[in-house]
Amino acid sequence: MMEIAEKMVRGRKMETILLILLVQLVAAAMAANVTYDHRALVIDGKRRILISGSIHYPRSTPEMWPDLIQKSKDGGLDIIETYVFWNGHEPDKNQYNFEGRYDLVKFVKLAAKAGLYVHLRIGPYACAEWNYGGFPVWLHFVPGIKFRTDNEPFKAEMQRFTAKIVDLMKQEKLYASQGGPIILSQIENEYGNIDSAYGAAGKSYMKWSASMALSLDTGVPWNMCQQGDAPDPIINTCNGFYCDQFTPNSNNKPKMWTENWSGWFLGFGEPSPYRPVEDLAFAVARFYQRGGTFQNYYMYHGGTNFERTSGGPLISTSYDYDAPIDEYGLLRQPKWGHLRDLHKAIKLCEDSLIATDPTITSLGSGLEASVYKTSSGSCAAFLANIGTKSDVTVTFNGNSYHLPAWSVSILPDCKNVAFNTAKINSATESTTFARQSLKPDGGSSAELGSQWSYIKEPIGISKADAFLKAGLLEQINTTADKSDYLWYSLRMDIKGDETFLDEGSKAVLHIQSIGQVVYAFINGKLAGSGNGKQKISLDIPINLVTGKNTIDLLGVTVGLANYGAFFDLVGAGVTGPVTLKSAKSGSSIDLSSQQWTYQVGLKGEDSGLGTGDSSEWVSKSPLPTKQPLIWYKTTFDAPSGSDPVAIDFTGTGKGIAWVNGQSIGRYWPTSIARNDGCTDSCDYRGTYRANKCLKNCGKPSQTLYHVPRSWIKPSGNILVLLEEMGGDPTKISFATKQTGSNLCLTVSQTHPAPVDTWTSDSKIHSKISNRTRPVLSLQCPVSTQVISSINFASFGTPKGTCGSFSHGRCSSSRSLSIVQKACVGSRSCNVEVSTRVFGDPCRGVVKSLAVEASCS
Ligand code: GAL
Repeated sequence: MMEIAEKMVRGRKMETILLILLVQLVAAAMAANVTYDHRALVIDGKRRILISGSIHYPRSTPEMWPDLIQKSKDGGLDIIETYVFWNGHEPDKNQYNFEGRYDLVKFVKLAAKAGLYVHLRIGPYACAEWNYGGFPVWLHFVPGIKFRTDNEPFKAEMQRFTAKIVDLMKQEKLYASQGGPIILSQIENEYGNIDSAYGAAGKSYMKWSASMALSLDTGVPWNMCQQGDAPDPIINTCNGFYCDQFTPNSNNKPKMWTENWSGWFLGFGEPSPYRPVEDLAFAVARFYQRGGTFQNYYMYHGGTNFERTSGGPLISTSYDYDAPIDEYGLLRQPKWGHLRDLHKAIKLCEDSLIATDPTITSLGSGLEASVYKTSSGSCAAFLANIGTKSDVTVTFNGNSYHLPAWSVSILPDCKNVAFNTAKINSATESTTFARQSLKPDGGSSAELGSQWSYIKEPIGISKADAFLKAGLLEQINTTADKSDYLWYSLRMDIKGDETFLDEGSKAVLHIQSIGQVVYAFINGKLAGSGNGKQKISLDIPINLVTGKNTIDLLGVTVGLANYGAFFDLVGAGVTGPVTLKSAKSGSSIDLSSQQWTYQVGLKGEDSGLGTGDSSEWVSKSPLPTKQPLIWYKTTFDAPSGSDPVAIDFTGTGKGIAWVNGQSIGRYWPTSIARNDGCTDSCDYRGTYRANKCLKNCGKPSQTLYHVPRSWIKPSGNILVLLEEMGGDPTKISFATKQTGSNLCLTVSQTHPAPVDTWTSDSKIHSKISNRTRPVLSLQCPVSTQVISSINFASFGTPKGTCGSFSHGRCSSSRSLSIVQKACVGSRSCNVEVSTRVFGDPCRGVVKSLAVEASCS
């Protein structure tokens, strides 16, 4: 018996061992060998042309990830790039979080499942407009620590966390060397931009980072971005709006672009930046034209800075970034579509691009041709017009090509144009917010909210852990960023005979703070407030009373600094001086070095009011409004449908909001964008800068705040607001964001045929190329919709843009009927843009077809 049992056990062990061996074999078979050479990353022996896009996993929800990743894949990406957010994963030392939005393993596996690679930028410094650049604030309190330099305590922590992430990825077999999707990792981030500030210690830290990373043995290459002296074998990569002029620091390294800014980030008090897709596509095409083989959009989906994750100072809650996928996960058109076409065109050239370096020649002033010609006879060419003013016709290989200013044409067969960066073949799809009000009563279907209740947050000191200290304290060192809020409180006895006070005990309270918001309360009443990035200087006329007075100053942070040398030491709060001045006599007393009482955070934060739990909510009317420091609560039913949801906070002041206990971030609709530098239509031609194309001047920087659908139940949802400055929460409304039903597109006779008409076999294309003409293609974004009407169609010289088209001097009278016939009733349609179809309304003139259609 014993023997049989033993044999069975042994047999089972054998089975298990065999199974493990099998799994390892399969993994080994799937494992990819990633290396690189002068031309490109080499995956399993093959050089690759790669297109990547950034999606930061905590800026959306796990429920959104599959759709975002699929839309990235459909947009032609090969790689998803993300930072790893240390402060999200280790909020307290040795307390790790890899759950929910921080489930990095799940995110990486989802990318793999979609067939995409991953570029993991471990950092662990990220920057990224993320609180404290991604560093946990506890790190600042490690004895003897100095960030990002040759400092033992810092290096020990950095190595520990980097190794932790690498180990986790290895455990889950996520490196390509193990059969996983990660083909590249990044150490540090743009250290070369600022390392000179750290002197010799900076250089040795950089070298240490490189060898520390290499020692972790991931089996795939490492990169450092913006680090011209990155030691071998680490690849130094480029970040910027353009990287075509970049060359890596060794002839054995490929030319790679880790951050191509698809737009720019928004700050509270700032107008909204956007980057025209013609320029973005131009930058990408120029990069591949001049030998680049790897390019990443930063961001491809920007998302949302939930909770208190936004960096600073004063980064907004939205991190939309004007990315090809918008904050809510909807396609931004035509940006997404035009880039998808660009990616297809570049991929059509892949065989030629990987085979050789380009031969670059001038075709005239500001005109450049790159030819990738292989020994096997395949050929791809890029023709660029770098001029910003004039469209030109160039001759190349005996054929002539129309090149708009600031554009690149891609010729996958060195003859036919598959794509031009300035000629958009994808329709503009508007997106709209459908409003649903949050009324406290009424029973209609639009009704979302029920009664509001409230709790008043005490003004000044209310918590048992308050403490006394002489002098004014820097805020971050005091709160350790456990909260945005720090109370500075002072009691003063005023005798009747104070000489520095004016008649009626009037005085001016002078406050200096280093950011980002300060509220001053005198005897429990809000007397004044201000905000600023680095410096706030307030002079507030106040009335004191004879006897006891309290001065309560509330210092508020709005995201900790994330960029620059020594950004970790940039402080915040009311660091002074704080003085009382007499306007009349000019005499003043300095309160700065008095005994102040301090309170970190608010009482309501300690009691977890954000969840809505508490027996203290008051539902008596009237609801106090336009008063500072009130917690509000209401319940609401889910807005109907399945479209993404936003809350419009217009009517409130500033604060933090929670939905079912999940913080949706800071809201601040009263922060108004500076009224300067906006343009209605921004000329894409010419070098882009972060402040080149701005909109929304003079309006609130952000009124709409994303509430992920998965955080909302069908009914009985709890919305809690902590309102700081005073507002009326009953003015809040809900909005759902949908792709609009209007499609607009203009295609000219000089447009290339749609890139989809190319097959990957360029020889076949060459044969049919004579028959391919420009085509205007429309498709309703929603699969259940069809084109219901054509609101405008003109073949000739139409004017205007989407929403304001008008007929030019020349227009075919059959335009409307032809387009109607081709399109109405179908989800999609194609109309050839030629005189063959429309007749010729004006000979010798280049004509365009402009169409505006509605889907329903
Ligand atoms: C770069 C940085 C990114 C991000 C970007 C601006 O310098 O590497 O993390 O901050 O700027 O959005």
